[in-house]
Amino acid sequence: MEEKQHIGQLFDRIAGTYDGLNHGLSFSIDRRWRRKTVKLMKPSRHVLDVAIGTADLTIEMLRRGKAEEVTGIDLSDKMMEIGAEKCEERGLQVEFLHGNAQEMEFADNSFDGVTCAFGCRNFSDLDAGLREMYRVLNPGGQVTILEFSYPSNRLVRALYDIYFTRVLPWIGRVVSRDKTAYTYLNKSVKSFCWGETFIQHLHDAGFTDEHFTTLSFGIATIYTAIKW
Ligand SMILES: C[S@@+](CC[C@H](N)C(=O)[O-])C[C@H]1O[C@@H](n2cnc3c(N)ncnc32)[C@H](O)[C@@H]1O
Repeated sequence: MEEKQHIGQLFDRIAGTYDGLNHGLSFSIDRRWRRKTVKLMKPSRHVLDVAIGTADLTIEMLRRGKAEEVTGIDLSDKMMEIGAEKCEERGLQVEFLHGNAQEMEFADNSFDGVTCAFGCRNFSDLDAGLREMYRVLNPGGQVTILEFSYPSNRLVRALYDIYFTRVLPWIGRVVSRDKTAYTYLNKSVKSFCWGETFIQHLHDAGFTDEHFTTLSFGIATIYTAIKW
């Protein structure tokens, strides 16, 4: 099976329980992380939310007036269906499109801002995804990325390992009734890059003025960079 189909299907399977598990397993800290991410966004007219999923980041940026218009793309139709319902309930107009972040169908320089929350570590080719974000962004626009990272403090790391390898996959399996999804989450976080290494990938994609801000002892990180 093609990698992109596999990821789309994985998120289709857990879409119904995704929001509840996200907030429950993170003790709602994920909401705070998204709020902080939106704070660090440069106000932009038309924003592309890559891997929009159930639209939590989109809702937050529209609510805070950081974007006037949002287009979201994702490989999982079920995640987007839930996101679309949430936007509709709140009277928010958002365009949801099925698409692969690594080969987007938008023309060059189509958006004033690009965001991606917890999407990048799912890409089979991170560099292709970042190059695409750069390509579709208008010069002067900002990319803002929220992603899990691995804490540097040894004690936090030990607690993190226990939580991510034992507690979280077990609860995820019971609630979502999916054997693999939350084991995948743990594996994808551990094998992904963060901090300066991620900044280097942004730089290689063409971005400048790259910065990162760690959250909650480094469990998550926000990256920002500009296309000049
Ligand atoms: C962990 S969810 C994050 C969703 C949302 N951004 C949030 O903050 O909750 C990851 C999302 O990335 C999507 N995704 C993974 N790889 C993708 C790709 N190559 N192109 C587009 N979407 C992708 C998945 O379908 C899923 O909806």
